[in-house]
Amino acid sequence: MAKVAVIGAGNVGATCAHVLAQKDIASTVALVDIVEGMPQGKALDMRQAGPLQDYDSSVVGYNDVAEGVAGADVVVMTAGLARKPGMDRMDLLKKNLEIVAGAMKAVKAKAPGAVVVMVTNPLDVMTWVALKVTGFPRERVLGMAGVLDSTRLRTFIAMELGVSVVDVSAMVLGGHGDTMVPLPRYSTVNGVPITELLAADVIEKLSDRTRKGGGEIVALLKTGSAYYAPATSAVQMVEAVLKDRGHLLPACVALEGEYGEKGICLGVPVIIGARGLRRVVELRLTEAEKAMLKKSADSVRKGIDEVAGLIG
Ligand code: LAC
Repeated sequence: MAKVAVIGAGNVGATCAHVLAQKDIASTVALVDIVEGMPQGKALDMRQAGPLQDYDSSVVGYNDVAEGVAGADVVVMTAGLARKPGMDRMDLLKKNLEIVAGAMKAVKAKAPGAVVVMVTNPLDVMTWVALKVTGFPRERVLGMAGVLDSTRLRTFIAMELGVSVVDVSAMVLGGHGDTMVPLPRYSTVNGVPITELLAADVIEKLSDRTRKGGGEIVALLKTGSAYYAPATSAVQMVEAVLKDRGHLLPACVALEGEYGEKGICLGVPVIIGARGLRRVVELRLTEAEKAMLKKSADSVRKGIDEVAGLIG
């Protein structure tokens, strides 16, 4: 079985490692964090939940990134700072750029065949950084955001209609931020488009709540951001790689002309397999949807332009 390395043992990284262990899809889960003792302690704690949760995955903690990622089949990158008082967006961008670039150099050296699943924010920009620093083909650098944004929309649709979440599928494209593009036409309850089941103003309300989904949780938690759904979303992508079944998911990938964009990473529907991206699926969009996606692409491009000169 495979080795999965999770970089960052904060709430997202640790939850990701635990959900991975519970799925028993990797023989080794390496949990990496620079804080001395912390990944080792969390890893040991997760091992000790194994007898109760029926898993044998060996979860191991590391402080050294190179050691932790060595030989990994999949690397999930969650490490990064959240904005602190007095820090502006650019300060955060620079700090997370350093963290991501440092980790990705180690991935390039020690896990040259890995598929990378990026989680660190700002997601689309950091996916681009990972692509540049590793020099990996675009197939092996995927950003996790579309699964999270879609699972949020699925939840809101199920809550609104009083139906099971398992019957609801949803598609959200674009960057992971206020400009993301929920696609109600491609969101269904067991095959029935939600446009047949909900009034337009209700759909808009659910779409808007999805766009602000991360912020809603930050406002409630006050001292942090969401992690159960983000971590589980990252695990779904890891599972899509490890099982090689050809899942169609929205994910952030480098575009090479699809949807009229290139030179940026953006959330689009893709088919995922063992080597990462199998192909980008080009949906037919309405003019209004195209305009929203273009706006989202432009805002991601602005972020990439800001960091492009800083990568050594
Ligand atoms: C969210 C942040 C963490 O959407 O990106 O919850």
